[in-house]
Amino acid sequence: MLYACVLHITCPALRPYLHKLSSTSRRQTTTDPAKTPWPSRTHRYFLTTPPQFNDGRELALLRHIFSLPTLSTLRHNPSAICATMDHFAAHHDFLINIGPDKAASVASLITSHAPGVIVELGGYVGYSAIWFASAQLSAWEAAGSKGEKPRYWSLEADPVFAAVAMALVDLAGLGDVVRVVVGNADESLRRLKQEGMVGEEEVDMLFLDHVEELYDVDLKVAWEELGLLRRGHWSWRITCLSRGRRGIGSL
Ligand SMILES: C[S@@+](CC[C@H](N)C(=O)[O-])C[C@H]1O[C@@H](n2cnc3c(N)ncnc32)[C@H](O)[C@@H]1O
Repeated sequence: MLYACVLHITCPALRPYLHKLSSTSRRQTTTDPAKTPWPSRTHRYFLTTPPQFNDGRELALLRHIFSLPTLSTLRHNPSAICATMDHFAAHHDFLINIGPDKAASVASLITSHAPGVIVELGGYVGYSAIWFASAQLSAWEAAGSKGEKPRYWSLEADPVFAAVAMALVDLAGLGDVVRVVVGNADESLRRLKQEGMVGEEEVDMLFLDHVEELYDVDLKVAWEELGLLRRGHWSWRITCLSRGRRGIGSL
């Protein structure tokens, strides 16, 4: 069955901390985020109060993982890498990734639907890409490994986060499935289509996890402007997961 699945992960608890950061990565201060004239597709938003990311912890994570005496057990072991990231988040510095509970829910969707092409908006340091691409690859192998290998596009605005993600994706042995793309999601989507990397109606699952205020505009870019989402026999579906709440609706 052909289908397209769009996932939004919303974190209302984090909303008060969202401040706008210029595209040159200089922090702008604003006393009242609610009055910030946004959304703007040309800007990224970062959590700044208290600092929850982008304060060096992402590179510290990378150094931590590659200095572990157990590093060899992590090679080509996606679940062990994600567990190590969870351990780092619990014992060193919090990481703004999806976390194991929601990741397991989404991965079970991936296992049951075996999407060939997944696009993620907001890759951060690769946790969801590693977890979901691993599930995607397993589903493809379970289905007899027919056709092309699945493809997971992870779009990330911050080049440092993207670099960390690439190193960890490589460690996980998923380099032939995951492609990390640096840039704002809307621009990257347009470029991927322009360069023939992702064609019309080729995306089976769109995972929006970058900035809540950009979910609608970037969904419109992917769906209406570029026509990337696969049209299904059934209706388009949006699965909304949020802290403590879960619902499914149709577009
Ligand atoms: C919540 S994190 C993503 C977590 C990741 N999906 C995971 O679970 O491992 C949000 C990420 O979106 C990125 N981001 C913010 N605005 C963006 C944009 N316009 N385009 C692409 N990425 C963006 C941030 O740099 C941040 O790394």
